[in-house]
Amino acid sequence: MNIINNTLFLEDISVETLMQEYGSPLYVYEESVLRSQFRQLSSGFPEGLLEIHYSMKANSNPSLLKILREEGSSIDAVSEFEVRLALESGFEPQQIIFTGNNNTLAEIEYCVEQEVSVNLGSLVLLEKFGQRFPHTSVSVRINPGIGAGHHAHCITGGPDSKFGIYHNQIDAVLALATKYKLTLNGVHSHIGTGIYSAEPMLEAMEMILAVAEKFPDLEFIDFGGGFGIPYRPEQQALDMKDLSQKMTRRFTEFRQCYGREISMKIEPGKLLVGPAGILLTTVTNITDTPKHHFVGVDSGFNHLLRPILYGSYHKILNASRYSGDEEDVVVVGYICESGDIFSRSGDKIERKLPSPVIGERLAFLDAGAYGFSMSSQYNSRPRPAEVLVHQGQSRLIRRAETFEDLTQFFVDFN
Ligand SMILES: Cc1ncc(COP(=O)(O)O)c(C=O)c1O
Repeated sequence: MNIINNTLFLEDISVETLMQEYGSPLYVYEESVLRSQFRQLSSGFPEGLLEIHYSMKANSNPSLLKILREEGSSIDAVSEFEVRLALESGFEPQQIIFTGNNNTLAEIEYCVEQEVSVNLGSLVLLEKFGQRFPHTSVSVRINPGIGAGHHAHCITGGPDSKFGIYHNQIDAVLALATKYKLTLNGVHSHIGTGIYSAEPMLEAMEMILAVAEKFPDLEFIDFGGGFGIPYRPEQQALDMKDLSQKMTRRFTEFRQCYGREISMKIEPGKLLVGPAGILLTTVTNITDTPKHHFVGVDSGFNHLLRPILYGSYHKILNASRYSGDEEDVVVVGYICESGDIFSRSGDKIERKLPSPVIGERLAFLDAGAYGFSMSSQYNSRPRPAEVLVHQGQSRLIRRAETFEDLTQFFVDFN
């Protein structure tokens, strides 16, 4: 991303050109950012020690999956259809780990049929798995009793979390494994998303390593994802260099004592795709009240849910006039709900922007993760197109939805 003549360019293409070609609103992904996020992360670990399983729930567009596959990524999938999408996007079954929650046995059966590893997060499911697939291998998701994340909804460890088998129930895991002759080949944990300090990650790592000692047949330990990216200008990114060194040191030490070759896995989503994606919109309306100057755009929380769901901050740029006289504005969407506010930051809703006028383009940054993938057709608003840009070239990777797309599933219609 760069600024030329006070306007925004993405991989050397002006936002204006992109929007004229593909329409507004529009999701755009910068390929070089995606590749460099992956390379930076993997270069922090010694070769051969780590396998990165991209958490495809963050963004499952097959064109992005293909790029990550080329970079050497494997996959963390959470549903049967994510597994199918990954397989049909060219990933080998051995590269995929399925970590669902509250699954049906049918989903598990599908994975086993496809030779995709399953990672089970409950004793009930482990029992069902044992009955259906005795004498096989499986991994288990452990709740290490520690959670962290940028919002309560995003904390997936600790006593308030529904995820995983609580770490004090390991004896029950081992008993089920013995009963059904299961080989426990992996231990997994994921304590939350949007984590900005190494401490909870390392603390959870210690808990998981303590659990892992009790399992003699491990082939891998998976420490999950959750690595925070700096959404706010003043926000410090999680220091991945430091964290990867500490994780490597501790894991290598553990491996020496454990006595057999095991690998380390992580499952980043946001860290890889978040900074690569931008949602572009057009200003359609300005409304003043005695309290606020509202700037309305042709998109809403149907396309970017994070602000209304978590109060999450996304940087907003006036892509048509990067700098200029600024004013306090409230950037709002076209959904018929008062909460449809893009400029939200917790309870604060005003943002300083070079005073946008109708027809100008606003860009919402760091929208590559949990942006399109959480989008909906609420208010019968179609989803926008997705475009990939690279070295001055652009390519449609998902077309914009149409009225026919919205209505195709109705039974009593036309
Ligand atoms: C099991 C699991 N792994 C990995 C992730 C990815 O998290 P993030 O995108 O924060 O890296 C998630 C996200 O919720 C998850 O549930």
